[in-house]
Amino acid sequence: MIRIALVLSLFARVASAQWWQHAVVYEIYPRSFQDSNGDGIGDLKGITSRLDYLHDLGIDAIWLTPIYPSPQVDFGYDISNYEAIDPQYGTLADFDTLVHEARKRGIRILMDMVMNHTSDQHPWFIESRSSRTNPKRDWYVWRDGKAPGQPPNNWLALFGHSAWQYDSGTGQYYYHKFYPQQPDLNWRNPAVERAMFRAVRFWLDRGVAGFRLDAITNLFEDPQLRDERVLGGTNAYGDPNEDDARTDNLPEVHDVLRSLRMVINTYPGDRVLIGETYLHGPEDLNKMYGRNNDELQLPMDMQVGLIDTLDATAYRRRITEAETMVRGNMPLFVFNNHDIHRSWDRYHPAAARIVATILLATRATAQMYYGEEIGMTTTTPTRKEDVRDPIGVIGWPREKGRDGERTPMQWDATANAGFSTSASPWLPVPSSSDSVNVAREQANPGSLLSWYKRLIALRRTDPAMARGDNAMLDYDSLNVLVWLRKTPGRTVVVACNLSAQPKTIVLRGALRPILRSDSAATGRSLPPYAVYIGAVE
Ligand code: NOJ
Repeated sequence: MIRIALVLSLFARVASAQWWQHAVVYEIYPRSFQDSNGDGIGDLKGITSRLDYLHDLGIDAIWLTPIYPSPQVDFGYDISNYEAIDPQYGTLADFDTLVHEARKRGIRILMDMVMNHTSDQHPWFIESRSSRTNPKRDWYVWRDGKAPGQPPNNWLALFGHSAWQYDSGTGQYYYHKFYPQQPDLNWRNPAVERAMFRAVRFWLDRGVAGFRLDAITNLFEDPQLRDERVLGGTNAYGDPNEDDARTDNLPEVHDVLRSLRMVINTYPGDRVLIGETYLHGPEDLNKMYGRNNDELQLPMDMQVGLIDTLDATAYRRRITEAETMVRGNMPLFVFNNHDIHRSWDRYHPAAARIVATILLATRATAQMYYGEEIGMTTTTPTRKEDVRDPIGVIGWPREKGRDGERTPMQWDATANAGFSTSASPWLPVPSSSDSVNVAREQANPGSLLSWYKRLIALRRTDPAMARGDNAMLDYDSLNVLVWLRKTPGRTVVVACNLSAQPKTIVLRGALRPILRSDSAATGRSLPPYAVYIGAVE
């Protein structure tokens, strides 16, 4: 009886938790997911046609990278209208259909909101640059140069060279943290916040479940425009390395986040704010939740997923930090996205199941990236003339850009991997699609795709995996990563051998296997790179 009551109370906790707390968020780069009209570019109808696949995978939400009208200099991160859909991706009606069809399958849609900058083709900027006295002049960051031909200070764009662009029409410079075609908005002007929050409401009214906030820590710059400290050495673009204290993570960001959180809180259904938060450490990340937990619900933790080496000590330390420094909030782990080389290439290829397990079997909310579940690799262009991402053009050959992690989704072994019927998809389909594709892996219970599905299912159905505490155990000397997921009635152990040698570990209690990557893994004995998940009885 007591046992039944316990199980029931656990399920009540599961039911009352907010949906995003233990969700799996799946990032789609719409250009590359599924093309429905044969123009070589993925689109909204294409995504809708693949919802059954995503439902079967078990995800809770889709984060769509920007689909708004855009000159596509930064493939959508340069927005020229925040309240419409770019025709190359479809129409608002297609968007509504996507939201509706996704909802029918229990999947929510998250938009990417780019509040730091617009396109230089946005009507706001066109007005702003038209004259020094235009009412929108102050919507962007305009300054006089230090001297003729010299920008106001030494700030650098993240995408190479000075962050200041001279505008000959009005004789001043404007600030851009990213490309010159992405002028930064001036968040010290309250009209900017009003305009941006209007766009936020537009999408909330259309039923989106929340937003991934692009470059959110970059909203403000030092008002005195003091130079950044020069650190020595040069970056991939040949510019001097600089600190970012004057242009990143200024305290004013928190005021905007609190106001934005108030906006989304007025909507029913647990709308969520996810932040793109590449920060210097767990203390900074912790602040993004807000002092009173009134800012981001899910700032991305980029510390765990970018360890990039199979080192149990580093994982144990960082997962522990993520768990203990968030004051009861949820960490959000990420190993892959459209800006970083795919985890398959950053880690040992044999580590794909380990990466999936750290992502999906820890307590954190999980964010994955299309193609991760089948083991897609980074396919970087080999010739400068093939590069589509301007970073790769500016930085070649040290920085080859991000095309490699944005190649089309590999659905099957037919032409263009089932992505498009076009003779020339916007990025070439990697030849690996002959063997690495959804159709092939769906048919194989031992595939990486099957592993992801089983982990996601376990995360939903096993109370300890769904809601249990996360306690890291110290097997560092063996380079084995072990943790417990615990609810009052149930304990599950997860053990990952991060090394190329078989390992034996001491574990207390009787073990009943739930999921293992290798039938020879017993929990206490782990073949190279093996993962074992079992109930402790
Ligand atoms: C971060 C996005 O993820 C990246 O793709 C983009 O280029 C920059 N922000 C600028 O918006």
